[in-house]
Amino acid sequence: MQELIALATSNPELLNEISRLSIRPWALDRGRAIQLGHLRGWGLEYGSLVDEIGRQQDFRDAMELARTRGSLLTPAKLMNLYMLIKFGLPQLEHGDIVEFGSYKGGSAIFMASLLRSLGSTAKVFALDTYAGMPDTDAVRDLHHKGDFIDTNVEDFRNTIRANGLDAWVTPVQGVFSDTFPALMADGRKIALAHVDCDIYDGVKYAINEAKRFMVKDGYFVFDDPLHGSCLGAMQAIEETLLHADKLFAEQMYPHPVYRYPPLA
Ligand SMILES: C[S@@+](CC[C@H](N)C(=O)[O-])C[C@H]1O[C@@H](n2cnc3c(N)ncnc32)[C@H](O)[C@@H]1O
Repeated sequence: MQELIALATSNPELLNEISRLSIRPWALDRGRAIQLGHLRGWGLEYGSLVDEIGRQQDFRDAMELARTRGSLLTPAKLMNLYMLIKFGLPQLEHGDIVEFGSYKGGSAIFMASLLRSLGSTAKVFALDTYAGMPDTDAVRDLHHKGDFIDTNVEDFRNTIRANGLDAWVTPVQGVFSDTFPALMADGRKIALAHVDCDIYDGVKYAINEAKRFMVKDGYFVFDDPLHGSCLGAMQAIEETLLHADKLFAEQMYPHPVYRYPPLA
C-alpha cells in the first residue's frame, strides 16, 4: 500500500501509469483489481488525475457534449467513467454499455463520445422513461413518481444526430422491465452497466438482470448509493452484490465500482 501511495504521489503522469497497469495481468484481491481501484480513486480524490484528465482532448470533447445535454454526474464521476472506458473496456471481450437512468442524456452522450474517440464498435444503450421516475417505495426511497420529468427524448435524439453519434448511442424509452428484455434478446452482452436510477426497484432490477449478460470481468458502476437521497439504491446493492454474492468493491470514490463476475 505504501508503495502504491508513493507511486501515486511521486508520479506526475499517473494517468499513463493507470493506462500501463490496466493491461493484464492485474494485481487481484477478493475478486477485484485492487491496485487499479486504489489508483483511480486515490488519484481522483487526492492526486493529480483531475488535472491530468482535464487536459485530455477526448475527455474535453465528451465533457462538452455532457454539458450541452446536462448531466447530474460530478466531474470526478465522469473522469472515472473516462478511465474505465478508455483503459478498462479494451481489456474485456466485446460488450456494450447499458445505462439504467439517463434523464437528459448527459452521461450517456459522454460515454458515446469516448467510444467514438476510441474507434470502438460498442454502443451505449440509454434506458429511461424519459417521462420522469416511475413509482417509488415510500419507505426506502426519497424520490417520488414524476421526478426528473423535465426531459425530452426527441430532443436527445436530435442532439445525437446533430453530433453524428447515432452509431454510438441509442435512447431506449420505457420502464426497464418493459425495454431491457427486448434489448438483450439478440445475444447482446454488457461490458459496463452504469446504474443511475436512484431508487430501490430500478437498481435491484438493473443488477439482477444485467448480471445475466455481463462479459467476463465486466464493470458495474453505481452513481447513487452514497447520496443522502438514495438509501434505497444502497439497499438494493447490499441485498444483491454484498449479501448474496459477497462481492468486494474495486473502488468506492467517486462512486462504487464492482467487477462481475468477480475476477479470478
Ligand atoms: C438521476 S437520473 C439519471 C441522470 C443521468 N444519468 C445524468 O447524466 O444526469 C435518474 C433517472 O432514472 C430514471 N428511472 C428510474 N427508474 C426507472 C425505471 N424503472 N425505468 C426507467 N427509468 C427509470 C428516471 O426517469 C430518471 O430520469
